[in-house]
Amino acid sequence: MIPHYRPAFGQEEIDAVSAVIRSGYIALGEKVRFLEQILTEKIDRRYACAVSSGTAALILALKALQVGSGAEVIIPSYTCAALWHAVTAVGATAIFADIETETFNLEPQSVKSKITPRTKAIIFPHMFGQPGYIKDIIAYGIPVIEDIAQAYGATLDQLPAGHFGIISVISFYATKVIGAGEGGAVLTDSAQLFETLRDQREYDEKDDLSLRQNAKMTDLCAAIAIEQIRKFSSFFARRAELIQHYKKISGIEFQLPLTNSPLKSNNYRCIAIHPQKSAAECISLAETAGARFRHPVYRPLHIYTQSERLPLTEKAWAKQFSIPLFPAMTDAEGDRVVKILERISEK
Ligand SMILES: Cc1ncc(COP(=O)(O)O)c(C=O)c1O
Repeated sequence: MIPHYRPAFGQEEIDAVSAVIRSGYIALGEKVRFLEQILTEKIDRRYACAVSSGTAALILALKALQVGSGAEVIIPSYTCAALWHAVTAVGATAIFADIETETFNLEPQSVKSKITPRTKAIIFPHMFGQPGYIKDIIAYGIPVIEDIAQAYGATLDQLPAGHFGIISVISFYATKVIGAGEGGAVLTDSAQLFETLRDQREYDEKDDLSLRQNAKMTDLCAAIAIEQIRKFSSFFARRAELIQHYKKISGIEFQLPLTNSPLKSNNYRCIAIHPQKSAAECISLAETAGARFRHPVYRPLHIYTQSERLPLTEKAWAKQFSIPLFPAMTDAEGDRVVKILERISEK
């Protein structure tokens, strides 16, 4: 079975982790500090604070913005459940907005229609590596947390994704663009927010007993993340090659990544639809033929909470499937995926 994703690790990651183990210091140390420095450079932010996961990064970001009980936070429904968990963890209420049908990210007008006096933040994830219209939403004047868990290396008008939010967050979960097992980071240009984030990341050796976390990243994970960042260009190029290969198939509509757009994808996911068939049908056909295609999002979040209908989110979920696409994919696996796409397009 061709998996939906398989990590691309080489001798570099093995050597980097071995060196950390040999050093005798595996907790938060010099590797984490080096990773933070690289992130500020790559994402063009003043400060970076590495943490234990993307979810921890979101929780710390919300807390730093003083989002808590009684607050509303606007998020998409067509996203990872981590967003709902983070908002709920700080005692706020998640309000779902619909997506647009070009980048499949938050639709500015839908977001605007959900703003109330209680709206204290908006979380904007650039889903599937494809940047969306975050700048239009920042213009509403409500603090926007930019979520680049899936979008490291993507750009908007030639500026890196992650450069725009008052706070930006990233995940280094195993299947992400930069996969380190677990981990994440919070980025900002505000010295004050950065101090709060760093203070909240760990509980020990403080002057008071206010509520803090253990959200620290380890040097083991940081060592892997650093090597993965070094390989990003080759990851991007290999994914681009595979996408071009897939796109030879007619009868399938390739929706993401966008081509010739100033919203430039990092090629993380290849999302397609079949004009007649449902996503579930295509996924099942692929499974029978030996490859794991997936819904790009496990389940839209408003379905769980039975909130107001979001027609464009529901339509995207019913139709879109994500095709296996990872830098470690062999040519033989790529050819096999093409054969399976051919079969799906015919039936
Ligand atoms: C858009 C988005 N935000 C946040 C997260 C949460 O990251 P983590 O799994 O590292 O907690 C994920 C997924 O993992 C995600 O896809």
